[in-house]
Amino acid sequence: MKLKRILIAGIGSALALSVFGALAADPEAAKADPAKGKAIATTVCVTCHNADGNSVIPGNPKLAGQTDSYIYKQLSNFKSVGDKKPERVNPIMNGMAAGLSDADMRNLAAYFAAQPRKSEVAKNRETVEYGQRLYRAGDAATGLPACAACHGPTGAGIPAQFPRISGQFSEYTEAQLRSFRSGERSNDPNKMMRMIALKMTDPEIKALSDYVAGLR
Ligand code: HEC
Ligand code: HEC
Repeated sequence: MKLKRILIAGIGSALALSVFGALAADPEAAKADPAKGKAIATTVCVTCHNADGNSVIPGNPKLAGQTDSYIYKQLSNFKSVGDKKPERVNPIMNGMAAGLSDADMRNLAAYFAAQPRKSEVAKNRETVEYGQRLYRAGDAATGLPACAACHGPTGAGIPAQFPRISGQFSEYTEAQLRSFRSGERSNDPNKMMRMIALKMTDPEIKALSDYVAGLR
């Protein structure tokens, strides 16, 4: 079991290095100005994500404490380039991203990444242990990899590689996992999350979404 986990972690990081290597060495990210990001966050994003990115509406994800590279990538994916359909489709966010410049997106990412995330609590006592087991070890029977291999033991993510998923609303996490599974969300590099979500049953999605909300 342990060896398998290490192997999966190895594959995760190898993929990460090849996919995100360019982002990690991104000199532009270093020039981001969180104060300029704050000005947009507190006037525009505030309605749905709260001024500090700790949204209080479960359908609107928390942005506080998310890795800056992931926020920047998502905003870029929400923005359509030319006549092309945006890589991540969501009518609200596609509209929001349309007006943002590349510098705006970097500044917003730097601002929200620096805000501490307020945690949630797991609500379903009956599935917490099951969720934890899946999170840490995956499911050998179905080939589901351990989430921890990529998202980290505390779900904090790995900057420039994998997003934070801990402390997020379970409703949002569940919706994203379903959306990856149906292929509706398809902006994950190398189909990483789509292939994983395809292996997930509804009870697994529920248990994991609830567990990671309370993970810290
Ligand atoms: C009218 C409400 C609304 C406003 C205003 C809004 N958002 Fe969003 N945002 C959403 C919703 C809803 C989602 C979830 C989309 C989905 O389900 O795929 C989202 C998703 C996101 C995500 C993806 C998060 C993740 O974990 O993948 C980012 C990043 C984001 N918003 C940034 C912003 C920024 C920056 C602003 C301000 C410029 C903003 N949003 C303004 C509603 C809003
Ligand atoms: C091989 C690495 C890998 C593994 C293992 C993995 N993920 Fe992911 N996950 C990713 C990547 C990469 C993304 C970002 C996709 C993107 O750029 O849009 C992601 C995104 C997500 C998101 C979307 C976050 C958001 O804010 O919208 C959720 C939820 C998620 N993963 C849950 C899980 C769960 C639950 C597991 C365990 C069953 C898991 N992941 C296992 C690589 C992985």
